[in-house]
Amino acid sequence: MQVKVIDHPLIQHKLSLIRDVRTGTKEFRELLEEVAMLMAYELTRNMPLEETQVETPLTTCTCKMLSGKKIGIVPILRAGLGMVNGIVKLIPAAKVGHIGLYRDHETLKPVEYYCKLPTDVAERELIVIDPMLATGGSSVAAIDMLKAKGARHIKLMCLVAAPEGVNLVNDHHPDVEVYVAAVDSHLNENGYIVPGLGDAGDRIFGTK
Ligand code: PRP
Ligand code: URA
Repeated sequence: MQVKVIDHPLIQHKLSLIRDVRTGTKEFRELLEEVAMLMAYELTRNMPLEETQVETPLTTCTCKMLSGKKIGIVPILRAGLGMVNGIVKLIPAAKVGHIGLYRDHETLKPVEYYCKLPTDVAERELIVIDPMLATGGSSVAAIDMLKAKGARHIKLMCLVAAPEGVNLVNDHHPDVEVYVAAVDSHLNENGYIVPGLGDAGDRIFGTK
């Protein structure tokens, strides 16, 4: 199983609060945004830099700024929306594409209903975001859609994964690095991650 677990203490603390059934919608949203920001900080650790001349009030110095590829963030609707703001705060120049998928409750297979991406998706470093990687069907379908539009550099960032989901992404897209805050035990008979956090979309948007 190829997965990078970002287990920073702040992330683990906030994830425990997110999991807690007593955490209400407002706090859930705030925590998810904060964790997404912290995870994105780790995910971007190796972004390339280039030297540039900067004039300070005292002198001119050689400093470093980001160079290279432009970033694209692609939330899987709906629940992925809950992670967008945290990342955009760190990378304000990022473009945001949207992929609409929902998991059919009977078959657990993803159903596509929306796709709107930046036109230069092939040139961007894409970060696909979704709090939950359960069977992996939704993430695999989203990555399939991106690759069909020419995307070549894709990372997947989820909050909680089941081993089944990580393995499915690894099998279908071995080039895609998977980042999570936790790999949980298993999926239950309804395809929910155990212990998990319940239905992420419902908890973010207060629906049921
Ligand atoms: C959830 C979650 C993922 C998907 C994960 O979305 O946000 O997109 O399920 O399950 P999978 O790995 O088995 O495909 P859901 O389909 O409930 O839609 P929502 O975000 O609109 O609530
Ligand atoms: N989708 C969710 O929102 N939660 C799960 O545990 C599995 C799929």
